[in-house]
Amino acid sequence: MADMNFTGPEPRLEDLLAARKQLTMHAQDGLCLEGVPLNAIADAFGTPSWVYGAATMRARFAALRDAFAAEGVPMHIHYAVKANDHLAVLSLFREQGAGADVVSIGEFMRATKAGIAARNVVYSGVGKSAAELETALGAGVGQINVESGEEIEMISAIASRLGVVASIALRMNPDVDAGTHAKITTGLAENKFGIAAADIPALYARAAGLPGVRPVGIAMHIGSQILSTEPYRLAYEKGAAMIRALREAGQSVDVFDIGGGLGIGYQDEPGLSPHAFAATVKQVTQGLGVRLMMEPGRYLVGPAGVLLGSVILEKQAGKRFLVLDAAMNDLARPAMYDAWHGILPLDAAAYRSATMPADVVGPICESADQFATDRLLPEIKPGGRVALLDAGAYGAVMSSAYNSRPRAAAVLVDGGRFHLITPRQEIEALWAEEIIPG
Ligand code: LLP
Repeated sequence: MADMNFTGPEPRLEDLLAARKQLTMHAQDGLCLEGVPLNAIADAFGTPSWVYGAATMRARFAALRDAFAAEGVPMHIHYAVKANDHLAVLSLFREQGAGADVVSIGEFMRATKAGIAARNVVYSGVGKSAAELETALGAGVGQINVESGEEIEMISAIASRLGVVASIALRMNPDVDAGTHAKITTGLAENKFGIAAADIPALYARAAGLPGVRPVGIAMHIGSQILSTEPYRLAYEKGAAMIRALREAGQSVDVFDIGGGLGIGYQDEPGLSPHAFAATVKQVTQGLGVRLMMEPGRYLVGPAGVLLGSVILEKQAGKRFLVLDAAMNDLARPAMYDAWHGILPLDAAAYRSATMPADVVGPICESADQFATDRLLPEIKPGGRVALLDAGAYGAVMSSAYNSRPRAAAVLVDGGRFHLITPRQEIEALWAEEIIPG
């Protein structure tokens, strides 16, 4: 299994900056996101804080949409809410014309709260509870991607009781290695996801005969942070073959949901190009006559976000440790997947100073609470700030209150101004709803 972490030479601070046009370094104001000084945001709301750039998210959505338009391939984009679920972010993608891909009733309700019509929501996931299905079906969810025969029976029963007909797509497990980190690959036979190709024809036919459900097509999602088109080609060829076989067997197949997974350049490895992806999709689905849908998350939001942290102190203990006020409870990806995130100082003078290796760590009582090892960074005085880059996807959504650390604030930069979109959690809120029995 390939590792998702790129192993080339580490980019220098200048390279990190040069590769991200949303970030600029100003002599006075220091590091800016879309022209807004990050120090001003940290002054206003403290650290740790997430900051997202609206223009970057819009530009990435447009790049993906335009890549398909250039190929003449109509594509319905359903933003994967799990990547970044702020109402402000969901509402931004709604304005761009996106639907949503959700995996829990919480995500479903968030998406509709942000104004995304239930009919534009696809409900995915390997285990949806009866209560979740009832709520989603009652609200008119557009499509449910099912992952087992058991689930089809469950949906049929609930939908029949409610007097509705659920459009379902069968998620096929194509048994393709996406070449990504083992913890985020989903399209191998050994993974818990999807239905084996051999079982699809019988289940599709069974679904077509059941009340309350209408099988509309095939869905797929083979993993995340995928950097090459090859695994997609292999998977989609199998999907297209399945669609043809189902039709030959007399089934009606209208939809091919091709999932998400487009990788981005964390360590300046080239991300998956939307043009190459769109060209692959076109080649494989040409003449198939299906309505194409996709569910991207990371590609749209990853590079748009940073996590701001302040240096608490620099500890010299044989090694140099830069101890931040941000931690693994905020950004879990390095601890969970050994993920590499760029780190830049906010201060222009620090940015230009000589660098030395440092381990960048948080204050949590776990050795895994480490953002970087032997990273070349300048001296940053206590109170000085850093930005952890490309933290817009799977950042805030995966944060926890471990060590009784309240959730960080979140800020949206838009049109040269910044807006608080989630206030920092109050310490008292951590236990406000707890009950001591007796
Ligand atoms: N659709 C389905 C059914 C999914 O399971 C996922 C992600 C997506 C779409 C969106 O994938 P994307 O385009 O964002 O790659 N926490 C991990 C990533 C987990 C991805 C899970 N599924 C990380 O931080 O790398």
